[in-house]
Amino acid sequence: MKTNSVIDLINSHRSIRAFTNESVTAEQINLIVEAGRWAPTSHHVQAYSIIVVKDKEKKEQLAELAGNQSYVESCPVFFVIVADYYRLKQASDLHNESIEIKEQEQIIVGAVDAALVAQNMLLAARSLDLGGVMIGGIRNDLKAVAELLELPEYTFPVMGLCIGYPAQNPDQKPRLPQEAVVHYDKYDQTNMKDALDRYDQIMKQYYLERTNGKRADLWTKQMASFLSTPKRPEVEQFLKQQGFLK
Ligand SMILES: Cc1cc2nc3c(=O)[nH]c(=O)nc-3n(C[C@H](O)[C@H](O)[C@H](O)COP(=O)(O)O)c2cc1C
Repeated sequence: MKTNSVIDLINSHRSIRAFTNESVTAEQINLIVEAGRWAPTSHHVQAYSIIVVKDKEKKEQLAELAGNQSYVESCPVFFVIVADYYRLKQASDLHNESIEIKEQEQIIVGAVDAALVAQNMLLAARSLDLGGVMIGGIRNDLKAVAELLELPEYTFPVMGLCIGYPAQNPDQKPRLPQEAVVHYDKYDQTNMKDALDRYDQIMKQYYLERTNGKRADLWTKQMASFLSTPKRPEVEQFLKQQGFLK
C-alpha cells in the first residue's frame, strides 16, 4: 500500500541531540505547542501543562539536573511536559467538589496525557525541519526540577523535550520486529524467541557499524542490565509530596 507524507515523517524518526545555533522562532514554538494542545486526553481532562524554557541559565540547570545532558542546555528551546491536576483542583473547587487523585490511575492518566502531547510536539517540530529528543532525565531529581520551574502541588514533570535545528544526521535505530510487538486477537509468544534473536543480530550490526567495530551490544543484554536495578525509587515520595498516591 502507498505511504504518505505523514507516515513517512513518523517512520523517519530519529532522536536529535546536537543542534545548530539557529534559533527557533516564537511562531515555530507556537505551532509546536498548538500541536501539543490538540492531542487527545483521557476523559478530556487535559491533565498536562507545557513549560517553555528559553532562559539560558534555567536550561543550564535543567541540563545538570537531567544528569549532565549537555543538549538540554545547547538546544534553542527546551520544553518540560508536566502532568497537571492543579488546574483540575481549581475546577473542582469552583464547584465545591473534592478531588480524588490518590489512585495509581491518576498517575497513568497524567503521564499518558503528557506523553501524547510531547509526541505531537516532536512530530510538529520535525514537520518544520526541526529535530529533537525527549528527556526522561528530568525525573532524576523531580524535587529540584519542580522547585526550579515553580511547579504547584498536584503536578509532576513527566519528560523534557529538546528542540532545535539538527546538527547531526544519525542513522535510524532499528526497532523490534513486528513479530515481537504486534499480536493478533491474542498475545502470541510463539515467535518471540526467534524475533529477539534476530533483533539482537540487527542491533549488534547497528552498534558495530556506528562504533567502527568497537561495540557489539545485544539489545537483550542491554535490557537485562538496565532492568536489573531499581529506577528512581524516590519518585514515589515526590508524587506523595505533590498530593498524589496514598
Ligand atoms: C520518555 C522518553 C524519555 C527519554 N529520555 C531520554 C534522555 O533523558 N536522554 C536521551 O538522550 N534520550 C532520551 N530518550 C530518547 C531515547 O533514548 C530514544 O528514543 C531511543 O533510544 C530510540 O532512539 P531514537 O529515538 O533515535 O529512535 C527518551 C525517549 C523517551 C520516549
